[in-house]
Amino acid sequence: MTDRQRVAIVTGAARGIGAATAQRLAADGFAVAAVDLDAANCADTVAAIAATKGRAIAVGADVSDAAAVEAAVAHVAEHLGSPSVLVNNAGVLRDNLLFKMSDDDWDTVMSVHLRGAFLCSRAVQKYMVEQKYGRIVSLSSTSALGNRGQANYAAAKAGLQGFTKTLAIELGPFGITANAVAPGFIVTEMTAATAARVGVDFEAFQAARAAETPVRRVGRPEDVAHAISYLASEGAGFVTGQVIYVAGGPRG
Ligand SMILES: NC(=O)c1ccc[n+]([C@@H]2O[C@H](COP(=O)([O-])OP(=O)(O)OC[C@H]3O[C@@H](n4cnc5c(N)ncnc54)[C@H](O)[C@@H]3O)[C@@H](O)[C@H]2O)c1
Repeated sequence: MTDRQRVAIVTGAARGIGAATAQRLAADGFAVAAVDLDAANCADTVAAIAATKGRAIAVGADVSDAAAVEAAVAHVAEHLGSPSVLVNNAGVLRDNLLFKMSDDDWDTVMSVHLRGAFLCSRAVQKYMVEQKYGRIVSLSSTSALGNRGQANYAAAKAGLQGFTKTLAIELGPFGITANAVAPGFIVTEMTAATAARVGVDFEAFQAARAAETPVRRVGRPEDVAHAISYLASEGAGFVTGQVIYVAGGPRG
């Protein structure tokens, strides 16, 4: 696997952690497929990679739609080559206290995070098994440990940890590792939307989170991309079924 250009798929790569991860993996030497709901939204990510002489394509797919995922992965295999890295990053929030949480709040979060990771992993594993090599990294969260207003999201992010450990067991014999990164508070549009929803200025929101974080700052998408880069590397082949908290402290 060392010489030819390896191929990485990053979901939710239009912005935030996914965009930073796509750029980092391109800098690491991967040809990158930036997947998001609308391919056009990945234009900035692809342009940033092209500007540094990297190789990337934008692919439109809803990760919760099985046919769309199969088509997207086939498209990547045809246009970039067989994928050897998958980053399950696409995500949404539908926060609400349990008594106000709608069926749709629950189903949407489960569909994107859990079903999305399942569908994407199932679609790429056949290429990885054929190659006897692969790296699957899924985005969990410190919310997996429990977080007020996030019964849906916490369940999905904890679920991804069990999913990851099971993939590690099933796919290990084929040279495929599966790991999760669990970020704490990272400055993205997702956390900006949370601040807006609770009516707090985003700068003040960040300052409060930084003050309660052991390293006394909030996280950046690049902090998470760095951990993903390690887990996606060839040298991390003996690390599998693990959850790395990227949270400025032991639990964020
Ligand atoms: N920001 C944080 O503090 C934080 C903390 C822990 C975990 N995470 C996780 O990291 C991941 C990225 O978070 P972010 O903050 O960059 O979020 P973001 O909202 O900035 O970006 C998420 C991206 O996912 C895409 N997406 C949403 N639904 C999709 C679908 N069905 N199919 C394809 N793409 C879809 C969106 O269009 C968007 O581009 C998410 O899984 C999130 O839960 C974020």
